[in-house]
Amino acid sequence: MCGIVGVIAKRPAAGLLLEGLRRLEYRGYDSAGLATLEGGKIARRRARGKIRALEDRLREEPLPGVTGIGHTRWATHGKPNEANAHPHATGQVAVVHNGIIENYKELRRELEQKGCVFQSETDTETVAHLLSVYLREGASPAEAAAKALPRLEGAFALAMIFAGHEGLVIGARRGSPLAVGHGEGEMYLGSDALALAPLTSRVTYLEEGDWAELTADGAVFHDAGNNIVSREAQQTALSGAMIGKAGYRHFMLKEIFEQPGVVGDTLASLIDPETGRVALPDLPFKWNAIQKISIVACGTAYYAAKTAKYWFEQVAGLPVEVDIASEYRYRSPPLHDKGALMVISQSGETADTLAALRFAGERGQKTLAVVNVPGSSIARAADGVLQTHAGPEIGVASTKAFTAQLAVLACLALDCARTRGAVDETRLDALTQALRAVPGHINAVLQKSASIREAAQILAEARDMLYLGRGLYYPIALEGALKLKEISYIHAEGYAAGELKHGPIALIDEDMPVVVVAPHDALFEKTASNIQEVMARGAKVLVVTDEKGASSLDPPPFWQLALPEIDPFAAPLVCVVPLQVLAYETALAKGTDVDQPRNLAKSVTVE
Ligand code: AGP
Repeated sequence: MCGIVGVIAKRPAAGLLLEGLRRLEYRGYDSAGLATLEGGKIARRRARGKIRALEDRLREEPLPGVTGIGHTRWATHGKPNEANAHPHATGQVAVVHNGIIENYKELRRELEQKGCVFQSETDTETVAHLLSVYLREGASPAEAAAKALPRLEGAFALAMIFAGHEGLVIGARRGSPLAVGHGEGEMYLGSDALALAPLTSRVTYLEEGDWAELTADGAVFHDAGNNIVSREAQQTALSGAMIGKAGYRHFMLKEIFEQPGVVGDTLASLIDPETGRVALPDLPFKWNAIQKISIVACGTAYYAAKTAKYWFEQVAGLPVEVDIASEYRYRSPPLHDKGALMVISQSGETADTLAALRFAGERGQKTLAVVNVPGSSIARAADGVLQTHAGPEIGVASTKAFTAQLAVLACLALDCARTRGAVDETRLDALTQALRAVPGHINAVLQKSASIREAAQILAEARDMLYLGRGLYYPIALEGALKLKEISYIHAEGYAAGELKHGPIALIDEDMPVVVVAPHDALFEKTASNIQEVMARGAKVLVVTDEKGASSLDPPPFWQLALPEIDPFAAPLVCVVPLQVLAYETALAKGTDVDQPRNLAKSVTVE
């Protein structure tokens, strides 16, 4: 979950490296550092904390040189301090790393026996010393890389520069993403295309096991067997401008307000404007050929999967198994011979989800990925891909990607329902129309942000909270709790409202606010009883409902928000928005770091 960059430039490298790191800071921000070649020697500047600490350091002591590498860290091995900050270097080589070197301890012992003196607690430093041993034995940088890489176990993306080798950067990828950027007489490396967007829109993604020698003339790609291979460059749609806050105080707020457009764009990519019906690209499986689908993801994407389960089972009659990626592959799930696997991932780089995808694919399951980054590892590993059109999501707390995922999943469920003949055309048209009305409903909800801000002032004082929902709103309650806990650091737990009496109600007192997601549907009366039960025990209850629900809650809860009347099928895409705003405003009231919450990173590329 770190970000790495490298440049071979015709201008000072430090500024370009910093620009790239700023775009990768969402991947980790415990420390940051640069290394360049100055007079053929390696020079480093590192700082604990965010990029701005490194910027201050560079103002004190600028870093010359036109060849360099940079890193922003999410600590895996070793405390987040300057000594453990990347780049790690010897006199011969400097290295930055994203991932985990799982055999670093045995390598370290071997290298210490060879007289290597370590300065840090990190796994990464073993790579610098291993390369140095080969270089001291007379190997060229490329030969040293070719010898060292096979000795490493684990997942990594690396960038390296070598003393005395101006104009050379070597990058390697195994399990963690790495992209080569093609400039005009310049070459770049970045953990993803986002880092390279201000420099170039022509990128080449390294394949699994690849390593590449970059010089000002271009890149030479080697596969895991050290054979020279060709890799296609592609044009990305990203631009530097897409990464700005566009005047919003935080990326998260910008991305919450982008949702009407994002959901609209995503639906437009899946619904034929002529017929008004769902029109998907070919899927890697036929709905009539499968009898069950497993949907696997992590975090917010997992809650999108849980929501999809209700849609597929209620509308299409297709059995769905949903699991957390880190559990799925280790529980040896019996794979249905008429089954398929779907994974959901905003980044397309989540290690657990990628591993689950590979687990199922290796066992003959057809796999479909719903991702937000088209060139990502998960997109390239799946048999088929459906893209969410959320654009770059920078805030660590996922918002617009979630509603875009729901839009894709709802369309998939409708496509499945039609193919299986589970719903007639009239009903299908009504459900599709309900989806197409979602952007407008989200917009209407966002106009009520001031009221949500008032409620947030109460939550900011809380230490613990419960989020409740039934049916389709249960996964939304889970997602609302995750949003709150990950950016405000308040302990919040999502629960099926019907489970309250089976334990959690013991937690209820006047210090435990309860958020309830309950538009007026077939289950509303049951949830209304739950609301009364917790109010009777002193809880402040905040309810997200609709006009009909608001008018029937008597006595009224502490706070309620009435959503526009929405077809229950499409309601989850709208009900989540007030919970996103609630989490944002609560975090703001608490003064936490909304876009880069402590201990987190945007893309979890380690298991
Ligand atoms: C959500 O707000 C979190 N940032 C996190 O749970 C995230 O959803 C999870 O890590 C999965 O990420 P992905 O969608 O990129 O795979």
